[in-house]
Parts: sequence; C-alpha cells; structure tokens
Amino acid sequence: METLILTPRTDPEATAKAAEILKNGGLVAVPTETVYGLAANALDAEAVSKIYRAKGRPSDNPLIVHISRFEELETLVSQVPESARLLAEKFWPGPLTMVLPKKDIVPGVTSGGLDTVAVRCPENAVANEVIRLAGVPLAAPSANISGLPSPTDFEAVYDDMNGRIDAIIDGGACGVGVESTVVTLCGDVPRVLRPGAVTPEMMEEVIGRVETDESALHPLADGEFAASPGMKYKHYSPNADIFVIRGTLPEFVRFVSRRTGENEGVLCFEGEEKYLPLGCVTMGKANDSLSQAERLFGALRELDARGFKRVYARSPSEDGVGLAVCNRLYRSAAFRFLKASPIIGLTGQTGAGKSTVAKLLELDGCETVDCDKIARTVLSDGSPILEETAKVFGADIIAPDGTLKRQLLAQRAFSSRVNAAKLDAITHPEIIRRALAQAKAITKRGFPAVIDAPLLFESGLDEFCDFSVTVVAPEKVRLRRIMRRDGIEEGAARARMRVQQEDGYYVSRAQYVIRNYEPYELESQLEGIPY
Ligand code: TXA
Ligand code: MG
Repeated sequence: METLILTPRTDPEATAKAAEILKNGGLVAVPTETVYGLAANALDAEAVSKIYRAKGRPSDNPLIVHISRFEELETLVSQVPESARLLAEKFWPGPLTMVLPKKDIVPGVTSGGLDTVAVRCPENAVANEVIRLAGVPLAAPSANISGLPSPTDFEAVYDDMNGRIDAIIDGGACGVGVESTVVTLCGDVPRVLRPGAVTPEMMEEVIGRVETDESALHPLADGEFAASPGMKYKHYSPNADIFVIRGTLPEFVRFVSRRTGENEGVLCFEGEEKYLPLGCVTMGKANDSLSQAERLFGALRELDARGFKRVYARSPSEDGVGLAVCNRLYRSAAFRFLKASPIIGLTGQTGAGKSTVAKLLELDGCETVDCDKIARTVLSDGSPILEETAKVFGADIIAPDGTLKRQLLAQRAFSSRVNAAKLDAITHPEIIRRALAQAKAITKRGFPAVIDAPLLFESGLDEFCDFSVTVVAPEKVRLRRIMRRDGIEEGAARARMRVQQEDGYYVSRAQYVIRNYEPYELESQLEGIPY
C-alpha cells in the first residue's frame, strides 16, 4: 500500500484530504498533543478492524475514541456523570481519557468487547480539525507497531507505518510525549488506569478522591485482572535490555564506570553525559518530569537505532507527571531494577578465598562489614543478649565483674549440637541486626556494602541482602590454603572443613558464584556482578 504524506504546514488541504480518507473507511496517522494516533472512523467496525491489523494489536485491547467537542460525548456513552462534566471542563481539550458505559452505537471492535468506552478530546489543532471535518468520532491508538514505544514525531510514525496505512499527517513533534491519562468513571471512586500528564492530584482538586491502579508502577501478577487491558501487554520495549538503576548521580557514575561498554549504553538526563564513560542517550532534564515525558519515547527509539544490547537507565522521580514517566520506563525495562549501592552478601567455605574477593570488591569502591568480627564482640560487656545467654547456659557464665567467661560458655555451648543451636538462636539475630546497621550506613553514604558472612544462609542474613555471592574452590585447593594460612596440620585443617556445608549448599543458594582457582580469573567474574 502506498502511504500518502500530508503536511498541513505547507498544504492547506491536508486536513480535508485526511478527513476524506477517514470518511471512506481508511486509516490515517494523526498528530496529537500526546503521541501520534492511528485513526479510523470509530463507528465503522470494518475500518476499526484495520487498525488492529496495521498495528499487530491484540483484539481485546480497546481503543480510545477521539471527539472534537464535549457535546459529542453523550452520543457515545449512556450516561455522563457530574465528574465527567467537571473533568472535561477543566482538562478538555487535553491529555485526559475518560472511561464510561458505552452506547450500542460504539461497535464491539472499538471497545475491545467491553461494555465501556474510552473517550478523549485532543487539544492538538490538526487532530481537532480532522475530527471535525470527518464528522465522525475517531478511534485512535498510538500509531506504533504494537509493543514498540509510541511515536512522538513524524519520523517514528513513518518508520512503523509507512506502507501499512493510507496516510500520515506530518504535524512535527508532540509536546506532552506520553499518552493521555486514562481514568475510569465507572466505579464508585474514579480510578487512574494509565497515568499521564493530567495527574491524580490535578483531578482530585476538581472531583475529590481519585485512586491510582496498582499497575501504574508494578507488573501485573500472573492471572491478575487488568482493569485496562493495555497494561497486560508487553509495552514500550526496545531491543535493548534496560535496567533502571536506583541511586544518586555519583552512585550511578561509579556503577556505570565498572561496565565493559561492549554494546552497553546509558539512558541519563541532559548534562550528565560528560561524567559517563558509555554511549549516552538523554531523556530530558533531571528534576523535570515534563521534559522527561516529552523525551522518553524518542530516547527509547534512539537506543535501538544505536544498537545497544544492555542499557542502564537513571531512575526518574515518581511524583506528579513522573508517575507517567516511570509507568512507561519501568515497562520498557520489564521492571528490572538494580541498586547502584546494593547490600551484597558474601559467603563461602573456609579456604575458598572470601577475603581475597572482599579485597577486590573494596578496590571497586565497596566497603566491607565483617561478621566474624561482629560475632566476637556480640557478647561483650553490656550486650543486650548477655543476660538471655546466661538464662540458657547458667548465671555463672557471667563473672562478678559483669564480663563473660568465654571458655565456660564455649564448653557448654559446644557440648552438643542442640546447645550450639541454642547459642546461635540467641546470637544470630543480634549479629544480623548489627551487620545490617553497618551495611545501611555504608549504602547511605553512597557505596555498595559487602557483608562478609560465613553463615550468610544458615543465619538467614541473605534475606536482607540485595543479592548474594559465594566463593568456591575444590577441596584440595582449600585444604592447601587453610594449612598455609593458619599454619596447621592436614588433620586439623580437615576437621575445620568437615563442620562446614558442602559447596552445593552455597552454589544453590547464591545468585552469583565466583570460582577462585585455576584457570578461572577473578576480575572478569566480578564484572558480571551488578554493583
Ligand atoms: O494519548 C493517547 O491516549 C493516545 C493518542 C493517540 O490519543 N492514544 C493511545 O491509545 O494511547 P492506545 O490504544 O495506545 O491506548 C489506549 C489505552 C489502553 O491501555 C487501553 O487498554 C485503554 O486505553 N482503554 C481503552 N478503552 C478502555 C476501556 N473501555 N476500559 C479500560 N481501558 C481502556
Ligand atoms: Mg499504545
């Protein structure tokens, strides 16, 4: 199919030509203030079904019907509640879509089989004129191939739709940049199904309480019902795997500086490029959600054009219009988040080389919390758990001067497995508490924290870490290392190794496994760990 390009800037007949095509059941891509829409006569089932084919859109994902004046609303919906009237008065024409019970005149293909219909009155002058001249309401989803970022300029529409539809109107760039807010007025309380430039707070000033659907910032759980069918589909997804990195700019710079750069890129805010060693695409200004909304979809398309395979994105504010920005960005990232300064649990068998790995992590800017050290002081004078320990193991383990008789406690605690477990049950929670307090203080200062913990999994401390790393080495290697490190005989070294878990225990529980023996190389293995 030959696609006609219509340019209202230079052709005064452009909108009339578009209207003619639409009246005859054709498809025209039309600029709006949010994103470009792919329009057809909303009341013509045949014409509407062509939209789904052109986009490759699932047929149960309903379309938005566009009108040119508020008065046209009552031709489409069976009731116009007071809230709709108030919202229209304040935000129409503009980036707000209202979902209301539909009249029979709206065909099932337009409403995706639902008994409700989504309606909006766009502000864009070209869009408004095309609707008026066509004389019918226009069904128009975003004019992209289903699953790709919505198009916010003529070139993006052309890339996706040339050859698939009758005409494209070139109206330049869209100002808002993300699709309209979708609010349903069908329930007891108005509910935002898709955030946009009209925020819940802005609507609350007009109609009182407004709820926001969980799906705004979270993925739908398996089998969960999607109030807005569009939210359940893969969306806004470029070819690259995007990771949203939580943290400040300095933390982000440190995080990105560790990346190898091969096919890796960055999605950052304007002006940050100069600090970042990878290829950068910008998504508006930091602390300016409106400029981020305007730029986001263009930036996502640019990432693909640059051929990136992995992209690290800055984390925008979720406030105000930021809710709409994050709704789109998180979906494009398939909800993959990483902390620039995570808490890393580090464990492994004795002799495997945990300390060596901890040293290397420190060279990369991490700070270490040593759980062995905490364990040695957890029962020192004034410890809140000293008394509890005495209750279980006998009051005489505390000397008259208040200090712990360590040898006596050890004798009793290690006399049996049951007693050892009793001591662990008292000390582990306190060790975890202290280790986490130290780790959080480190991450708060903007550095990754490594909790070096031989009993990371046994104590349950791993549950509080963002991820865990285990260091492994074959038995022979560990034996040699222990004998050399501690200057002990083989028998004594073997006895120490015997009280530990098999290496499968660590490997099956850790997110990352570091092999610390020939021919493996430590540095390259560390590159795969996200800190
Ligand atoms: O800004 C926009 O809204 C753009 C421009 C072209 O107007 N249009 C747009 O349409 O974004 P589309 O089809 O890409 O997104 C429509 C969204 C989908 O998430 C869909 O599930 C939801 O609106 N929707 C449509 N009708 C609905 C209904 N009856 N109930 C609930 N959600 C509905
Ligand atoms: Mg869309």
